[in-house]
Amino acid sequence: MADASLLQELRGVRAPTPSVWFMRQAGRSLPEYRSLREGTTMLDSCVRPDMAAEITVQPVRRHRVDAGIFFSDIVVPARLAGLGVEIQPGVGPVFDHPVRTEADIDALPALGDRYEAALEPIREAVRLTVAELGTTPLIGFAGAPFTVASYMVEGGPSRDHLRTRALMRSRPELWARLAAWVAELSGRFLRAQVLAGASAVQLFDSWVGSLGEDVYRTHVQAHSAATLAHVADLPVPRIHFGVGAAHLLTPMLEAGATAIGVDHRLRLDRALGVLPAGTPVQGNIDPAVLFTSEEARFAEARSVLTAGAGASGHVVNLGHGVPPTTDPQVLTDLVAFLHAQDVRRA
Ligand code: CP3
Repeated sequence: MADASLLQELRGVRAPTPSVWFMRQAGRSLPEYRSLREGTTMLDSCVRPDMAAEITVQPVRRHRVDAGIFFSDIVVPARLAGLGVEIQPGVGPVFDHPVRTEADIDALPALGDRYEAALEPIREAVRLTVAELGTTPLIGFAGAPFTVASYMVEGGPSRDHLRTRALMRSRPELWARLAAWVAELSGRFLRAQVLAGASAVQLFDSWVGSLGEDVYRTHVQAHSAATLAHVADLPVPRIHFGVGAAHLLTPMLEAGATAIGVDHRLRLDRALGVLPAGTPVQGNIDPAVLFTSEEARFAEARSVLTAGAGASGHVVNLGHGVPPTTDPQVLTDLVAFLHAQDVRRA
């Protein structure tokens, strides 16, 4: 398993054939996912180990991608810790009680033995998944403190996370308590996945691009670092990804990541130009090409390989998640195309 090319790329060892997985590869783009999920809510499916394992394996079986991404969600840990949260279809995570005041933060549940016990379905799902995946590595994940806390503070999805960003500036000590709580929540969730068999982790800070670098360094970076520190003693690569975060790549790496995920807005060679030499990168095919022609898709894939050719390691991915309306065959064909390329000629 440690030999899997994808893990080697994440450690900075190149293979001739590209390795690829897709963010949100498990989920609504697959008919087998939709039929399995029928009658079960999103969050309930995440705590049914057999279901979570099967959904994780579905895209690996179908597309022949080089890794599974554990089927769960960034708000599953909050649910397991006892908070009222649902995922509304077509909307996203919605919390029963937004967390905005000192009293709200005082009322957050402790993250001790009860939370560790509540993580058992996650451990069981990871064990089942890893057994099923065989030599294909499983990537575990968690949401970073800013992105998860933004859902908690706003109460649900928001365009610019204004309340969260205002909280940081107006009540920095309250924000720090909330972010530290999420760091512990997500950190323990990550560690549980790795101890149960995940071979790499990705920290999703999807909405971090709404922060300037100074605010990131002052109010966020230490909390993301605290999250990643939960797995830093374990021998797994740590990928850190944000959307629209071209200006934050270096501080995100400095938060304790070992590889950086890049979205489709920034060319990989430009990302490599700002990151310290030797940093492995992941990305960054524009998801929009999934809705164009095969010619355009393969041209984009080639150009991503070329832009990543100078990296110490490169794992191919999309610049963000698979849109639910994607034709699955398009992904299968894209994987086959990538596996037929020789990066030494890219
Ligand atoms: O293939 C995978 O990546 C599967 C695991 C996964 C899910 N969510 C499953 C899911 C992962 C890694 C996530 C992470 C996640 N969740 C992020 C970070 C990644 C990103 O896309 O930026 C974020 C921001 C969330 C919060 C969230 N959960 C959103 C915005 C949504 C979409 C809401 C919608 O319906 O459009 C969800 C729901 C969700 N998470 C679904 C899946 C498969 C859809 C649920 C369904 O089937 O109805």
